[in-house]
Amino acid sequence: MFRIAPSILSADFARLGEEVRNVTAAGADWIHFDVMDNHYVPNLTVGPLVCEAIRPHVTAPIDVHLMVKPVDRIVGDFARAGANIITFHPEASEHVDRTLGLIREAGCQAGLVFNPATPLHWMDHVLDKLDVVLLMSVNPGFGGQKFIPETLNKLRATRARLDAYEAASGRRILLEIDGGVKVDNIAEIAAAGADTFVAGSAVFGAARSEDPNRYDSVIAAL
Ligand code: DX5
Ligand code: ZN
Repeated sequence: MFRIAPSILSADFARLGEEVRNVTAAGADWIHFDVMDNHYVPNLTVGPLVCEAIRPHVTAPIDVHLMVKPVDRIVGDFARAGANIITFHPEASEHVDRTLGLIREAGCQAGLVFNPATPLHWMDHVLDKLDVVLLMSVNPGFGGQKFIPETLNKLRATRARLDAYEAASGRRILLEIDGGVKVDNIAEIAAAGADTFVAGSAVFGAARSEDPNRYDSVIAAL
C-alpha cells in the first residue's frame, strides 16, 4: 500500500485551496505541508494559519513536516489547525521523547525526520512512539533538488529495522521519503523500502493550465 503526498511547497500559493483540492481529486493520499522557519533551515514558508486555511478544502490527512527549532511550542497550534501527522527533526528538539508525546497527546500521529547525514540511532529508544519515519533524500530547505543516491542504502537499512519492529510488536511504522522523488526514480525508491512518497516539484511543477484535472496523469504515473 503506497501513499503519494504532494508537497505544497511547489504549489501556487495564490490558489492554494484549489491546488490541494485538485491534487486530492487526482488521487493524492496526503497533503505534505512544509514548515520552514529561516532558523533551522535557510528558508521561510508557512505556519498554522495556512494549515487552518486549507483544512476545509480536503479530507485527506495533512502531513506537517516541521523544519523549525524549537519544536514543542508550535505543536499544539498545528494540531488545532487540523494537522493529522506531525513530523520533526530530532536534532531540533531538546527532548525528543517529550516532543513525540506532545504530538500524540494533541491527537496527531508522530514522526521523526532524518536529514541525509543524520544517523538512524535517534529512533533507537522511541519506536513505540513513532507512527512515521521520514527520510530526507535532499538537504531540507528547498524544493526541486536532486535525489541523493546514498539515501537508497539508508532506506534499505530503515526498512529492515521497521520490519523487525513490526514482526516483534505487530505495529507498522510508515516509511516516508522526501526530496527529489520523480516519475523516473520512484520505482527504485519503492524497491528500497519506502511506502509513502513526498513529491513537490514533480507534481505541482507539472504543466500548469486552468484544467482542474491537470494533475491526474502525473499522480497516476507516480
Ligand atoms: C524540502 C521539503 C520537501 C520538498 C520536496 O525541504 O521538505 O518536502 O518540498 O520537493 P521536491 O519533490 O521538489 O524535491
Ligand atoms: Zn517536506
